[in-house]
Amino acid sequence: MAVLVTGGTGYIGSHTCVEFIQKGQELVILDNLCNSKAEVVDHIETLTGIRPRFYKADLLDIDAVKKVFDENDIDTVIHFAGLKAVGESVAKPLEYYTNNIVGTLNLLSEMRKHNCFNLIFSSSATVYGKPKTVPIKEDFELTTTNPYGTTKLYIEQILKDLCVSDNRFSVVLLRYFNPIGAHESGLLGDNPNGIPNNLMPYVTRVAKGILPHLNVFGNDYDTPDGTGVRDYIHVLDLASGHYAALKALSERGVHIYNLGTGNGYSVLDIINAFERVNDVKIPYQIAERRPGDIAECYADASKAEFELGWKAIRSLDDMCASAWNFEKNL
Ligand SMILES: NC(=O)c1ccc[n+]([C@@H]2O[C@H](COP(=O)([O-])OP(=O)(O)OC[C@H]3O[C@@H](n4cnc5c(N)ncnc54)[C@H](O)[C@@H]3O)[C@@H](O)[C@H]2O)c1
Repeated sequence: MAVLVTGGTGYIGSHTCVEFIQKGQELVILDNLCNSKAEVVDHIETLTGIRPRFYKADLLDIDAVKKVFDENDIDTVIHFAGLKAVGESVAKPLEYYTNNIVGTLNLLSEMRKHNCFNLIFSSSATVYGKPKTVPIKEDFELTTTNPYGTTKLYIEQILKDLCVSDNRFSVVLLRYFNPIGAHESGLLGDNPNGIPNNLMPYVTRVAKGILPHLNVFGNDYDTPDGTGVRDYIHVLDLASGHYAALKALSERGVHIYNLGTGNGYSVLDIINAFERVNDVKIPYQIAERRPGDIAECYADASKAEFELGWKAIRSLDDMCASAWNFEKNL
């Protein structure tokens, strides 16, 4: 029996593949490489000694998805594949709804046809919109501020409806907070195509001199230093969270977990930690707030600890050091 990892050559997917292979799990990867590179499969092999079967395929191509299920004995899917840039989703909503939602519908219909009923889905803290309080618990009100977030919210609803209609399905919705950091080998990390949307790959490119400076969007938020506060989690802790989530699949229905550390760090905290740990300078400028951004967002991750026995263990210094190690290796 194999686990299918959609988006498995991407940032979080690749680290999760390493975690699962090291735990002895057989894997199959499907990715269309729109935001990752085929050489990631080589790196996964280097790190684990095992080369997962790789299909360069698009979830929008239902025949290609069918082929993956026909050729492999898949009992569980971890579904990372999707477009994830908030700003781009505002400019290209149709592309985001089509890619993320139609891609998921194709995946689900092939899963059901092939008697595969276990799914772990990459959701996001963005489904909490502008939370009224922090830390955020799983039962908080859900709302979104951009099309990317809405694709996550709609997919969560589709999965809930599916589980009501068909009690063979077990679904885990993992709401990630802000993954940063990289594998300690320097072989895997966050290497998006084009200008990065997220903070850390932007910081590392500024550190390397590829980008001139970092824009800090707003310094007048109601936070200790005025810059936005987020819950940064090491990508390796996130990867182990997926392995822990397998436990929840043994019970039918939908299970929802926040994956975060429960600690909030500001943008200036990240810049300062990165400079101190890596002994580099990050020139930055204060820029206008971005529409839709919120002051503070961090998790109450106690449900995952209590029910899955999972807890993030890596420090902010580890996150900064590993991210820079990866960027220097590129
Ligand atoms: N990185 C974050 O900050 C973050 C936070 C919360 C949730 N998430 C979600 O986690 C998942 C993984 O994120 P990531 O940071 O690893 O992103 P990523 O872009 O590195 O990985 C996503 C992968 O999916 C592939 N892909 C996209 N559309 C596809 C399609 N139609 N068919 C096949 N492959 C396709 C891309 O080529 C890429 O390799 C995404 O669903 C994302 O929305 C990410």
